[in-house]
Amino acid sequence: MTSPRTTLSLVDTDPAELAVDAIVIGVHSQTTEPGNGAPAHALLLASGGESIAAAFDGKLTETLALLGATGGPGEVIKLATLGTVSAPLVVAVGLGPEPAGAAPAPESLRRAAGAAVRALAGAPRVALALPLPDDADAPAALRAVAEGALLGGYRFAGYKTKPQPARREPVAEVLVAVPDAADATAQAEIARAQAVAGAVRTSRDWVNTAPNELRPPAFADAVSAAAREAGLEVEVLDEAALKAGGYGGILAVGQGSEAPPRLVKLTWTPEGGGNGKRVALVGKGITFDTGGISIKPAQGMWEMKSDMAGAAAVGAAMLAVAALKPSVTVTGYLPMAENMPSGTSYRPGDVISMFNGKKVEVLNTDAEGRMVLADAMARACADGADYLFETSTLTGGQVIALGKRIAGVMGTPELCERVRVAGDATGEPAWPMPLPDDVRKGMESDVADISQVNAGMDRAGHMLQGGVFLREFVTDDVAWAHIDIAGPGYHSGEATGYWTKGGTGVPVRTLVHLVEDVATNG
Ligand code: BES
Ligand code: MN
Ligand code: ZN
Repeated sequence: MTSPRTTLSLVDTDPAELAVDAIVIGVHSQTTEPGNGAPAHALLLASGGESIAAAFDGKLTETLALLGATGGPGEVIKLATLGTVSAPLVVAVGLGPEPAGAAPAPESLRRAAGAAVRALAGAPRVALALPLPDDADAPAALRAVAEGALLGGYRFAGYKTKPQPARREPVAEVLVAVPDAADATAQAEIARAQAVAGAVRTSRDWVNTAPNELRPPAFADAVSAAAREAGLEVEVLDEAALKAGGYGGILAVGQGSEAPPRLVKLTWTPEGGGNGKRVALVGKGITFDTGGISIKPAQGMWEMKSDMAGAAAVGAAMLAVAALKPSVTVTGYLPMAENMPSGTSYRPGDVISMFNGKKVEVLNTDAEGRMVLADAMARACADGADYLFETSTLTGGQVIALGKRIAGVMGTPELCERVRVAGDATGEPAWPMPLPDDVRKGMESDVADISQVNAGMDRAGHMLQGGVFLREFVTDDVAWAHIDIAGPGYHSGEATGYWTKGGTGVPVRTLVHLVEDVATNG
């Protein structure tokens, strides 16, 4: 199931003369605090829109304010141009207050571009004349605008059998106005944004696909086909190979389903081995999480079709890696299983022998993610990873602790900090969390090496239990980070900025950024 694509290119013609269906400009909200009396609110034109404002005889912001524009973030106000400029529609997108003496933050631009392109569904061709700095921050700003536009233009194809007259087609073509469309740095940013946003869109498609259509064998096929096309090396371990290899965790979770588990391995090898480092990306691929024998309540269970968002992000990030060709070896590991209750399911009390030989006592079959991840992470270590980044919709505790937008990061402190910095740079915030000794003590099992969760099923430090468990499956010489995306992986609310309803594609952009970081800085 693939969504319709949006194309993107650069233009350096005067925005007032562009033959497009709509021209997007930015506006800031400005609040001045006079010494006495009430603060005054004004609408401020952002740079990039000067020629449009000139065509309106200086009355553009005044007119937009009459239409209700305040310049608040995410606000989109449309105005018919009635021949003043070539485009029939001018669209003012809010950027919030103008940062003193600085250009808007990249994430503000990303969200504004996303909101504008999303609001313009139905217009085939639109141009963005947003404020872009002309200094060293220019590439990051252009990258943000391009990513925002491509992601705001995303729509899942869906399954409706009748044409939907009220549903307008996503924008097909976006032009981004820049000072010099032939500039090599700007063109490189556009190419990168296309690769990265294309990957994010693919991961959203996989997450949004109905879970009956994406059980482990089908998911493995879809990822393998895309990866082969991208030129990656692909290896798929089926249930027989998993049994032969001793992947007890993946097999235990998968044994309750008629659709057998898989472990998909994707490899990018740079020419000459690159800088000699090996990066492993591991993603949780539970194609549907009922909880198994420890079954979940019915309310909201459908959202557990997104329990493979980590694997989708890793698979998609590998596609971007294949396009960007970083000088570092990268291997993606995608353990896939369907967590179902049945006569063949694993059960609380089972002791499972994992890939690295450790024995795990199962207490709750709903803590299935860590079972499949532990095997995949141990395999990545056995393959000689130097850096291991793992991401998963692992715990409801992450949502309680950090909310729906900020991922939790646990692991080697230095690598956690790198993830935080990468998240900050990409607009996918992530926050470091500890791995306390007392949480590990609480997971001592009477019979096995470790319990899968707290031995008394105490939910205190619930997100941390996940991290503490996974640490047992990483060898000491490997720097690792576990990124819990239970909240940010899936957006159940109305679309906002460049986030559409459903899969978000988090943390594809972080993973790509981290791979490039290791390729450049080791
Ligand atoms: N997939 C869920 C976690 C989850 C919850 C993701 C909400 C997205 C939104 C995970 O497999 C799970 O069920 N976790 C349990 C762990 C518990 C049994 C230790 C949880 O969060 O309650
Ligand atoms: Mn679960
Ligand atoms: Zn799960």
